[in-house]
Amino acid sequence: MSTTYKDEAGVAAMRVACRLASEVLDYLTPFVQPGITTGEIDRLAAEFMVKQGTVSATIGYQPNGYPPFPAHLCTSVNHVVCHGIPGDKVLKKGDIVNIDVTVIKDGWFGDTSRMFMVGGEAAASVQARRLCEVTYDAMWKGIEVVKPGATLGDIGHAIQTFAEGLGFTVVREFCGHGIGQRFHEDPQVLHYGRPGTLQVLKEGMTFTIEPMINAGKRDIKEMGDGWTIVTKDRSLSAQWEHTVLVTPTGYEVLTLSAGSPATPDFVRAAAVSA
Ligand code: MF3
Ligand code: CO
Ligand code: CO
Repeated sequence: MSTTYKDEAGVAAMRVACRLASEVLDYLTPFVQPGITTGEIDRLAAEFMVKQGTVSATIGYQPNGYPPFPAHLCTSVNHVVCHGIPGDKVLKKGDIVNIDVTVIKDGWFGDTSRMFMVGGEAAASVQARRLCEVTYDAMWKGIEVVKPGATLGDIGHAIQTFAEGLGFTVVREFCGHGIGQRFHEDPQVLHYGRPGTLQVLKEGMTFTIEPMINAGKRDIKEMGDGWTIVTKDRSLSAQWEHTVLVTPTGYEVLTLSAGSPATPDFVRAAAVSA
């Protein structure tokens, strides 16, 4: 498979699919409360996708060597790194949960995830809150590097140095990815790396940046269900994800909607001084 470059029509279609994916998260936000199960969140999302005219990209998704994914989104709670399967797990006050939504609209894919602190920020431990914030900022450290001529290694380096500099670790086994008329396209977007290495970014590329950051060691293991990834040391893990477009002068974040959290101050300051 090779990298695809989107023309104007492709970009327009990506904008729609990506906004719709983000709107699923907006819709789910008020429901992410103590007492709800991850399976109920999945059910709510499935109903909402029907209303918005999208199809979940995850249900039945079956990469080589995997069983079909059985739900409309992923819910990854506390020490779950990614690909958590919704089910009868009850969310409780103080949990942190990543909800990862990928929808298909008119054949185009939009992929985004956010962290939620169950019961509100005040319910989370200091470490959990810090991990969620640092992971959000780490995603944006990667995003702000994006422009034609920058490299994938520049993105990974920005994320890694930021997160490790604050005492957190970066999961290596999973990465961001090209996306378009397929869920997972080239290139792989690593969340660690060296400046100036790997593929050069070009206008029209669309890919995700989705760092998984751990409070403890970076090592992971897979659970017996063939999907769920957890930290080996059972430390907390967080993830945020946006789908971005490489524009002639920089980037456009495609997975934005009314409920998206504010862009970090360091990104806005950089935009003003540019
Ligand atoms: N949405 C995930 C990603 O960001 C992939 C989930 S695949 C699934 O790439 F099958 F686990 F849902
Ligand atoms: Co993704
Ligand atoms: Co995703």
